[in-house]
Amino acid sequence: MTTVATIRTAVVGLGWAGRAIWLPRLLGHPRYQVVAAVEPHSGVREAAAAEFPGVPVVSSVDELPPVDLAIVAVPNHLHATVACGLLARGLAVFVEKPVCLTSAEADRLAAAERGGGVLLAGSAARYRGDVGALYALAATLGPLRHLEAEWVRAQGVPGAGGWFTDRSRSGGGALVDLGWHLLDTVGPLLGPAVIEQAAASFSGDFIAAKSAEAGWRGDAAANGTIDVEDTARGFLVTDTGVSVALRASWASHETYDSTRIRVSGGAGEALLTCTFGFSPNRAGGSALTVTRHGRTEPVELPADAVGAEYDRQLDDIPVLLADPAIRGRAVEQAAATIALIERLYASARTPQPA
Ligand SMILES: NC(=O)c1ccc[n+]([C@@H]2O[C@H](COP(=O)([O-])OP(=O)(O)OC[C@H]3O[C@@H](n4cnc5c(N)ncnc54)[C@H](O)[C@@H]3O)[C@@H](O)[C@H]2O)c1
Repeated sequence: MTTVATIRTAVVGLGWAGRAIWLPRLLGHPRYQVVAAVEPHSGVREAAAAEFPGVPVVSSVDELPPVDLAIVAVPNHLHATVACGLLARGLAVFVEKPVCLTSAEADRLAAAERGGGVLLAGSAARYRGDVGALYALAATLGPLRHLEAEWVRAQGVPGAGGWFTDRSRSGGGALVDLGWHLLDTVGPLLGPAVIEQAAASFSGDFIAAKSAEAGWRGDAAANGTIDVEDTARGFLVTDTGVSVALRASWASHETYDSTRIRVSGGAGEALLTCTFGFSPNRAGGSALTVTRHGRTEPVELPADAVGAEYDRQLDDIPVLLADPAIRGRAVEQAAATIALIERLYASARTPQPA
């Protein structure tokens, strides 16, 4: 019997994502050995030490013991800088979305990866069982004509007045945050098509209201800048004539938080209704239907627990690291995504919310 070596792993950034998503999953996964975590704020370090007593928490990446993999879950504006530093040490680095905030940052990541290390990234949404079923169904719908992808929360602004709503640190609002997941999700459906046209509109009607906050995050009150959108609507057309309607909303007039992906093909249409992420404010489980010749039928879905996609993403990291062709793949995808996001922001008549 061969024993598979564990991957010595560090979590960099112990905010909501580090503590609620990554640390518990890594600690429960047989392929990973969490050797350290990094968090500059002493209060957060102390809370994390109490919550995860076996995990040494240091205050800077410079104090890390030898590791094979770093999972970077720091505020958006630090992703590229922190990841480049870790790549320069030859590490495998998984960077949370949004991987980078500008095309220039994507170039820096590409250069750092060429110098050593391996960059991994990508939204967990592709690992959802319902999204996998949608991908399989989409292949039976004839030539792709149109996609609709929307993630609309009733209330889900992350930490208004903190870094998420400050464009200089977040890179943008709902488009960068939720839209990155949506673009990652529709990527396999679009394949290698080039986006020829991209236009968007942005609004911020809800963002400043306390009631619009993502309650499940438990963010501390903050009084900083709010200059990003809570809602982004975009429309894309590819060089092959496929259109994509996108909507990302941190808050809305809706009752529940929901995600909908519609795939329209020449021979039928599929609709997935579910809720991405961890919001407890969901209408129910996932539902997938297919409509052909005027008949709509339900399609059976695997029963997934909330968050199962993140476990699968961790299952996949060792597989990706064993792939000799992995280097360059994540940065290429991130570069395409951020270039599109840059175009969408540039296309808007009023780039800031009204
Ligand atoms: N994949 C997902 O579903 C998902 C969900 C939530 C958040 N995220 C992403 O994870 C990232 C973090 O989000 P969050 O909600 O945890 O934010 P957060 O503000 O709760 O946490 C960020 C943490 O990073 C720490 N930090 C700052 N600079 C650091 C540095 N140089 N080294 C180490 N730590 C540092 C901060 O002190 C803070 O504790 C964001 O990029 C966000 O987009 C992804």
